[in-house]
Amino acid sequence: MGNKPIYILAIESSCDDTSAAVLCDRKRLSNVVATQKIHEEYGGVVPELASRAHQQNIVPVVHQALAKANIDKKQLSAIAFTRGPGLMGSLLVGTSFAKSLSLGLNIPLIEVNHMEAHILAHFIEEENHKIPTFPFLAMTISGGHTQIVLVKDYFDMDILGQTLDDAVGEAFDKSAKILGLPYPGGPLIDKYAQSGNPKAFPFPKSKVGDLNFSFSGLKTSILYFIQKQTKENPNFIVENRDDICASIQYTIIDILMSKLKKAVKQTGVKRIAIGGGVSANSGIRKALEEGEKKYGWTTYIPKFEYCTDNAAMIGIVGYLKYKEEKFTNQSVTAKARYIINT
Ligand code: KG4
Ligand code: ZN
Repeated sequence: MGNKPIYILAIESSCDDTSAAVLCDRKRLSNVVATQKIHEEYGGVVPELASRAHQQNIVPVVHQALAKANIDKKQLSAIAFTRGPGLMGSLLVGTSFAKSLSLGLNIPLIEVNHMEAHILAHFIEEENHKIPTFPFLAMTISGGHTQIVLVKDYFDMDILGQTLDDAVGEAFDKSAKILGLPYPGGPLIDKYAQSGNPKAFPFPKSKVGDLNFSFSGLKTSILYFIQKQTKENPNFIVENRDDICASIQYTIIDILMSKLKKAVKQTGVKRIAIGGGVSANSGIRKALEEGEKKYGWTTYIPKFEYCTDNAAMIGIVGYLKYKEEKFTNQSVTAKARYIINT
């Protein structure tokens, strides 16, 4: 392969974002994301609508990614795509498109695990971004995932813990829905929490042992609490919005941080890399800064563009796999349940 630059076209369509990116080696040349607005009015992702929107978006999004990168498809070295985990109908669109394009261009095809990509997004070359050294702990927190993974090498990872029910972003969004806030409510809870008292309303924390998470109990207790309070005072939410949001956020972060501390203790690894949409949360960022000061952690947060679902993270895995000639073939199929390292 020599020192010739490697150009990867990457495609991500696992949930409700259609994305395509072009990477030259570890550098992102373009990263186009078409976010599907249609789900907002339903208060959550509707799978059938998501796959239809992917069908409409995929060709223009890929064209845009190539145009922005100023790359002709004939220059591409390989096509990388998200094989899973995700919504089957959504995955099928990206998978079929990637397979056809690799066949048409007669270049290698690389399948990517979406969860691995959230973690390896840290290896995209960016100015002023420090890259974690192995081993490190990765905590992926988003609307679809909540995982703590011990990363020993690019393709050698152990899942230490994950959610048994809702993802942390869902916990934010479902709590917000109870408060009558629009979808996705996570950023709004964060915003209102800034001026509230985090200790105003104590919510119970789930008692799941080891390093796994559970958020469905929290959601139920918030629901019952709000129902009880609004029965007594119909203006309860309006009058206490900031304090409620601060208390919800405090509880969720406390759950995440206590598991993270446990993982550090268990592994002795103090390098912590965060990914997923919830890493935008100001409370999480503050808690991680505190961890650096108090416990000597080194924390890594990629550019926000690489935290939420995007194809550049699929592209970096594509590049790393290309270097190791980890290619797949035309018999590959989408995999809705796809566990890291399997
Ligand atoms: O990674 P992402 O864009 O999409 C997937 O889940 O795949 O994450 C979106 C999630 C949503 O649940 C959203 O409410 C949450 O991230 N989120 C936040 C914040 N910004 C986004 N949650 C809390 N605080 C935030 N500032
Ligand atoms: Zn994701």
